[in-house]
Amino acid sequence: MHRTHNDPKTRSGPETAGATIHRASQYDIHTRLMGLGVNRPNSRMIIEMAKIKPGDKVLDVGCGTGNLTLTAKRYAGASGSAYGIDASPEMIDVARKKAKRSGFEAVFEVGLIEKIAYPDATFDVVISRLVIHHLPDDLKRQGFAEIFRVLKPGGLFFLADFNPPANPVLAHVTFALVGHRMMQTNVWGIPPMLTETGFVDVASGPTRSAFLAFVSGKKPT
Ligand SMILES: C[S@@+](CC[C@H](N)C(=O)[O-])C[C@H]1O[C@@H](n2cnc3c(N)ncnc32)[C@H](O)[C@@H]1O
Repeated sequence: MHRTHNDPKTRSGPETAGATIHRASQYDIHTRLMGLGVNRPNSRMIIEMAKIKPGDKVLDVGCGTGNLTLTAKRYAGASGSAYGIDASPEMIDVARKKAKRSGFEAVFEVGLIEKIAYPDATFDVVISRLVIHHLPDDLKRQGFAEIFRVLKPGGLFFLADFNPPANPVLAHVTFALVGHRMMQTNVWGIPPMLTETGFVDVASGPTRSAFLAFVSGKKPT
């Protein structure tokens, strides 16, 4: 399912070393079948953990088909706004259509976490789900520096990413579903990177999902 832009047969959208997903029309059904929790209750859980409130201006990096972005818009309300960027033009296309159907206005644009096309200090909250494990470590650091830049002083970065389950039976089943590479994901390496970037109040821990852990940090005021 993951295709990088190093493959000339599938190259579209901006160049990145991140693993871009082009099969956007199958993404929602695929992730639902895998049971990884990319669904509405999961989106609500993340938005509530990120404490998104009416009036907030929110950016979802690596937004995919836009599920989390549109939930953010519901919580940010008419006085707030939600933006989603993704390296995959196909994902952005699906997200825009979904926004039209849902009646929630969100801005979806092709864009890279490592080169965010918004001015400094634009957003109250930046969110991201299941994206950071798609990036090599140097790109993670570039992405975190960009997120730090576009956050307002006092703004929050909240990410949720895959965390291989500790339960051996669940780990076995998960391995069969997601494969070896994804089981190597180490979400616990992220907090020190956020601290190096300048984030404060860095926190991490489990979520209600068996597959996702969170990491968060604030831009100092
Ligand atoms: C597993 S999907 C997660 C999508 C969405 N956040 C969700 O929770 O359903 C990971 C997404 O990251 C995107 N991606 C990969 N590298 C990226 C980069 N450098 N910049 C922005 N998005 C990237 C992929 O195209 C893909 O849509």
